[in-house]
Amino acid sequence: MQSIIVTGGAGYIGSHTIIELLNNTDLNVISVDNFSNSSSAAYEKIKQICSRSFETIELDLCDKQLLEKKLGSLENVVGIIHFAAYKSVPESVADPLLYYHNNNTSLINILEFCKIKGIQNFIFSSSCSVYGNADALPVTEKTPLAKAESPYAHTKQMGEEMIAFFCKANPSFRATLLRYFNPVGAHISGKIGEFPLNRPNNLVPIITQTAVGKNSLVVFGNDYPTRDGSCIRDYIHVSDIADAHVKALQNLIQKKGLEQCQLFNLGTGNGVSVLEAIASFEKVSGTKLKYTIGGRRAGDVVAVYANNTRAKEQLNWVPKYSLDDMMASAWKWQLNIEGSNNS
Ligand code: NAD
Ligand code: WQD
Repeated sequence: MQSIIVTGGAGYIGSHTIIELLNNTDLNVISVDNFSNSSSAAYEKIKQICSRSFETIELDLCDKQLLEKKLGSLENVVGIIHFAAYKSVPESVADPLLYYHNNNTSLINILEFCKIKGIQNFIFSSSCSVYGNADALPVTEKTPLAKAESPYAHTKQMGEEMIAFFCKANPSFRATLLRYFNPVGAHISGKIGEFPLNRPNNLVPIITQTAVGKNSLVVFGNDYPTRDGSCIRDYIHVSDIADAHVKALQNLIQKKGLEQCQLFNLGTGNGVSVLEAIASFEKVSGTKLKYTIGGRRAGDVVAVYANNTRAKEQLNWVPKYSLDDMMASAWKWQLNIEGSNNS
């Protein structure tokens, strides 16, 4: 049986991707995580949703010796989906070396492991943050990258380039770089979602936490040159992102793509303002959200959304979930967390 290694598999997007891999492929799934931003609770949740089992390995990918010790004996590994990274933009600004060290060292070590083991297929989590403030919208994969606004975004730009050069030096190695826009929501079962270990920085968990009285939402600016003055983003359901990974992996394994190093935007293509996101949440939850309007947040781009034509055409991927679905699933998950905290 062929295996797929999922690094960062206990994290938000990794755990949802494991569910899609278990449900839609015959691959043996091996999750590798050091729980630096997650816990084994995510694995228990996956087991509640999927009947098929999977393997787990606790490992810091920055520890090269331990990596070789714990993964070296694995056989028939058809590919690696590499989610493991730190992802907080403000934390990366406060502690840049932490981000350069963790995100780049783990990537170098896993690429070296691919070389040693002859693993040929690789999927990398990149981010729309590589585009910065683009001159024209929607952004396509050909939109020039802006100078990175944060060390986090810089690690994604560096990661993309590192993989592209690694491909050139290793002709049998094939990579797919996926630039996620704003992944939100939770599995439709409501049984698994994001477990923010610390206070979240992202809009949707702040909205749902505010609705249960555990946070207070401030809209960062209503004086932007947009239709309602608030910033515009391309929110995409986490299970649609997960589904794209399964399709990208199948595409790599079947050698369908023409390019050795392929790049795809993963967004819905719809720009949504912060106030529109709040209105959607209020509609699906039947809750009136108490929020205030504050000043602009440093480093925020005014608007960004994807042209997703390439992923639709080449991966045969179509995002299924609407903004209302994203908000409804995030709310269901928040209520599930509240239920477990109260029981
Ligand atoms: P997450 O923090 O929930 O998951 C990342 C997982 O990687 C965590 O479980 C963490 O414990 C693990 N990890 C981190 N460093 C590790 C290391 N050195 N060794 C082993 N495990 C390690 O984040 P996520 O939201 O699931 O993001 C997954 C990937 O997608 C990341 O690379 C992130 O940068 C990227 N991304 C996320 C978003 C987003 O908004 N969530 C957007 C664009 C790109
Ligand atoms: C969305 C919108 C805020 C919080 C970040 C990373 C990006 C990617 C996705 C990893 C913005 C507004 C937010 C709040 C608000 N991650 N907002 N009040 O900044 O688009 O992207 O996550 O790769 O790299 O930068 O996402 O969810 O923080 O913000 O008004 O309390 O919500 O101003 O317009 P962002 P976000």
